[in-house]
Amino acid sequence: MTVIAFVGSPRKAGNTDRLVEEILAGAAEAGHQTEKVYLSDYALTPIDAVYGDEMDWTDPRQGVADELIDKMVAADVVVLGAPVYWFSISGLLKLFIDRWSLYRRGEQRLMDLMAGKRLVVALAMADPHPGYVEMVLGPLRQAAKWLKMDWAGQVVASGISDPGDIENYPQVLADACELGQSL
Ligand SMILES: Cc1cc2nc3c(=O)[nH]c(=O)nc-3n(C[C@H](O)[C@H](O)[C@H](O)COP(=O)(O)O)c2cc1C
Repeated sequence: MTVIAFVGSPRKAGNTDRLVEEILAGAAEAGHQTEKVYLSDYALTPIDAVYGDEMDWTDPRQGVADELIDKMVAADVVVLGAPVYWFSISGLLKLFIDRWSLYRRGEQRLMDLMAGKRLVVALAMADPHPGYVEMVLGPLRQAAKWLKMDWAGQVVASGISDPGDIENYPQVLADACELGQSL
């Protein structure tokens, strides 16, 4: 099985990156092929308002996202990692997700291609007592449903701010590894 992870933090070697790394380490232990992609390495741009027949399938800026979505379509499991920014996922990850709307392979749209694949989410956040984690996860759960993907679990690291803070929470890292092993 192949597991692809997208890191939606602009901070390489930050807490999100570390969480994702641990999920992938667990998945590799379980014998899966893994790959990690930093969204910050790609020039993702906001999608235009596109609906139904008005979809601009020739938007040249879509190519950047399509390159990444191709990888997602080829994988069995998708891991989305995001720092929580302003009570939501990072804008970087959202730029990527918005671009899912314009993905097409022949006549097939993303929802025709993702059904049955699994989604894992990793969140890193500073708030030590966040009462709003489900609110952050909600749109991702809904996106998984829309794409007919199965929700394979989430790991949330709270109370962490600077890179390396996550090392103070070995249980969260162990949970991330276990989640990867379970895939
Ligand atoms: C622009 C910005 C907004 C943030 N908003 C929140 C927030 O709403 N809730 C929270 O708990 N942490 C918030 N944080 C803190 C980050 O989620 C936290 O530092 C996290 O560890 C960053 O992950 P990273 O190390 O992968 O970059 C914010 C950080 C930034 C830079």
